[in-house]
Amino acid sequence: MYKVDLQTNRENASKENCSILDKVNDYTESVKTHEELGLNLLRKSASITASNREVTVFERHSQKEIKTLMFGSNNYIGAITNEYVIKKTIEATEKSGIGSGGVPILSGTTYYHDKLEKKLSKFGGFEDTILFTSGFTANLRVILGLIRPNNLILQDRLNHASLMDGGMLSGARMLRYKHNDPTSLEKLLKENYEQYKGGILVITDGVFSMNGDIARIPEILDLVKKYDALLLIDEAHATGVIGNKGAGTLDYHNIKDRSNIILSGTLSKTLGSVGGYISASQNIIDYLRFFASSNLYSTSLPPSICASAMACLEYMQNSDVVERLNANARYLREKLRSNGFNILDTITPIIPVIVGDEYKMCIMSKFLLDNGIYTSYIQPPAVPLKTCRIRINVMVSHTQEDMDHLVEKQIESCMIN
Ligand SMILES: Cc1ncc(COP(=O)(O)O)c(C=O)c1O
Repeated sequence: MYKVDLQTNRENASKENCSILDKVNDYTESVKTHEELGLNLLRKSASITASNREVTVFERHSQKEIKTLMFGSNNYIGAITNEYVIKKTIEATEKSGIGSGGVPILSGTTYYHDKLEKKLSKFGGFEDTILFTSGFTANLRVILGLIRPNNLILQDRLNHASLMDGGMLSGARMLRYKHNDPTSLEKLLKENYEQYKGGILVITDGVFSMNGDIARIPEILDLVKKYDALLLIDEAHATGVIGNKGAGTLDYHNIKDRSNIILSGTLSKTLGSVGGYISASQNIIDYLRFFASSNLYSTSLPPSICASAMACLEYMQNSDVVERLNANARYLREKLRSNGFNILDTITPIIPVIVGDEYKMCIMSKFLLDNGIYTSYIQPPAVPLKTCRIRINVMVSHTQEDMDHLVEKQIESCMIN
């Protein structure tokens, strides 16, 4: 009775003769019980303050403002409210206004775009970088730009939805290997190498957004080179989180050589605002400037956003904020593990508390919010069935007391039936 099963909803939706609105009404029906019980997590109560340690939320059921600790935000290093970042963003707005006025390939490339692309290239150790208006778009467009139906894409099972969507839209053959398992990847490479020689793209998240573990890039990269493939790494949750001063997955693994590698990143998590990018060799970026079609047909980021991303990078690299973030994350991981919680193999500030059952997860999430703790709930199709989880994002702004309070309430939440 109590179930919002997005997978089933999709299956029903693809049945023959399913009208557009029947499918929509099915969904409304399936969330009705949740809504009546005050447990519909799919409709949010809006925050009315900045997404940092403590936020004020306008709770939509009680119609009251409540204060809650934020444990569901990607604002890892506090960039969203950083004074230096805000100052630089305002300066750029005053100088260049609120928008770019065009698509990148026509009039939408400003001094700020150019400078940020150079800075990101240097940051990642690549020859060049191209900006997009979101990380999601960057992932879609790099895949659709480079891949044709006669290519093969091999993806980690737990890759982000944008990478899966890109793969499906490309029309190429797409296969998924077992999560972070080079043996499973090699099996697929071996089986398909002859047919797709030189035409294989392997894709992995650097830090997995639902599990918090780190991709085994050295082994994956060896295979990529052995089978003459290319590797696309999604750095969304790795930038500002792992590697020296937040330099990301390649730095974490001490990989210097960039051949066969394409990097995708976002400005929306550690870097605080919105936007995405692809870093790669000069030839690949030159090609994408024409073949990643949003570069031709979609307006570029506001210049101020580029200025804020640059200011975040400066702050990240010239302070100890990443070390402090990771000290916080270590503290909370250890505390949750020692209290018996299953948090998988995470070694980052993304901490999945596995609950299993969807109903239990909804009840626990509500209990946490009622007790002043805002977390993210994760259910299929984002994660496999029966692995519903409460995802916690640690930020540098959390205090030890905040984390102790979270664990205490998390323990209490397990006792509710
Ligand atoms: C792994 C991963 N890649 C890409 C994205 C998309 O990034 P953006 O929010 O900038 O569109 C996300 C965001 O949820 C993500 O977690």
